[in-house]
Amino acid sequence: MTHPMLAQANHDEQAEQLFVRDLKQYLTAEVEPLQRGIAEALDPGPGHNARAEHVYAALHHVPAFRSWAGVRRASQELLWQSVWDTVERQAPSLDGLAQAAPALGSLSLDPHFTVPDYLEDAHVHLMPGGYSLDADGVRQGAVMDRGGAVYMLGRNGGFMNDGRGQTVLGHLAACYPDLVPARLLELGCGIGASIVPVARAFPDAESVAIDVGSSMLRYAHARAAHLGVAVDFVQADAEATGFADESFDLVFSAALLHETSAEAITRIMAECHRLLRKGGVVVHLEVPSRYAQLDLWTQVRAEVEHDYNNEPAWRAATSADYAALLTAAGFVDCRIGFQDAVRNGDLAASHFGPESKGTFLSWFVASARKV
Ligand SMILES: C[S@@+](CC[C@H](N)C(=O)[O-])C[C@H]1O[C@@H](n2cnc3c(N)ncnc32)[C@H](O)[C@@H]1O
Repeated sequence: MTHPMLAQANHDEQAEQLFVRDLKQYLTAEVEPLQRGIAEALDPGPGHNARAEHVYAALHHVPAFRSWAGVRRASQELLWQSVWDTVERQAPSLDGLAQAAPALGSLSLDPHFTVPDYLEDAHVHLMPGGYSLDADGVRQGAVMDRGGAVYMLGRNGGFMNDGRGQTVLGHLAACYPDLVPARLLELGCGIGASIVPVARAFPDAESVAIDVGSSMLRYAHARAAHLGVAVDFVQADAEATGFADESFDLVFSAALLHETSAEAITRIMAECHRLLRKGGVVVHLEVPSRYAQLDLWTQVRAEVEHDYNNEPAWRAATSADYAALLTAAGFVDCRIGFQDAVRNGDLAASHFGPESKGTFLSWFVASARKV
C-alpha cells in the first residue's frame, strides 16, 4: 500500500534505493556475524566493569571493524542522498499536492520555536538537516517518509510506515480495552505515520500530534488529509507542550524517547501526567531491547549506532527504569513489557508479555494510568 503524498522514485533512483536496502541487509546478515566474532575474541570477561566500552575501543584498532562500520555509515548517507534526489525532482508537485489536500485537521507552526539541543547537535540517523530542518514546503517530510520506509527495509508497514501506530492500538486492545478517548495526542509524530491509524481507530476523538520541524509537519498534515484523516498538527516540544492541564484521555509516543536524552525522558513523563485527565492512559512504545539483557556484541552495536548513526539516547532509553519513572511522575498500574508487532491490522493476535520476540516482531511498551 502507498498514499498520494509519497514521492515516487524514477527507474534509476528506485534501483539505487533497492541497492541500498540490499547492501544494508548484506552488511547485517553476512558481515556483522564476523564482527561479532572479532568482538568476542576481545572480551575481557564478565569481571570487567565496562566490557562493552572496552571491546568497542579495542575494535577501532581492527581494520575489518572500521571498514564495516564505515560502509554502514556510507550506506546510510547513500540512502538519504538517493531519496533526496527523488524528492527534490518533484518538490514543486509535492508542494502543490499538499496545497490541494482536503480541508481536514489543522496545522499550527510556531516561528519562534526552539529546537531541543539533542536534535540540533547531531542529526538523527544522519538525515540531512535533521528532523527540525525548516526546509521549504514539504521537502523534509517527504524525505523522512520515503527514506524511513527504505531504512526500515519495509518492515514497519511498507510505505505506510504504520506498524508502530498499529502496535499502539494492539497494546490498547490488550491492556485498556475500555478506553474511548475524546481527545488524544501523539508526542513526536514525525510525518504522522503512527497517528493516522490511531486517529482512524477513534473517529469520534479529536486527534492532536506534535513534533519539532515545520517542513515535516506541513507534510504530515497533507499526508493525513489525503488519507482522509483529521489530525491537528502542532509544532511543540514534548517536554513542555503548552497544552492545558488535564486536556487529553490518551497520550502516546512511538520511537520518540530514544531520540531525546535521559533528562528529557524524565520531563516527558511529567508532561504526560500533567496533560492527562483522571482515568487517562499514557503509552510509550520503544525499540524492543533492554540494555542490561543484551549480549556483549549487541551492547557494542549500541555504541556503533550512537557514533555512526547519530542515535543520541538509545542507551538511555533502553536502560531507563520505566516503572520507576512513571511512578515518580504520579502514574499507577504501570505495565512494562513487549507488545507483538501488529500485522495486517490484526489487533487480537498481538499479545503483551515479558519477553521480546526481536526487532520488528515486538516493541517495548511502558504504559500506565492516571487516577
Ligand atoms: C523515530 S521518529 C518517530 C516518528 C513517529 N512517532 C513514528 O512512529 O513514525 C522520532 C520523532 O520524535 C521527534 N522528537 C524528538 N524529540 C522531540 C521533542 N522534544 N519534541 C517533539 N518531538 C520530538 C523527532 O523530531 C522525530 O520526528
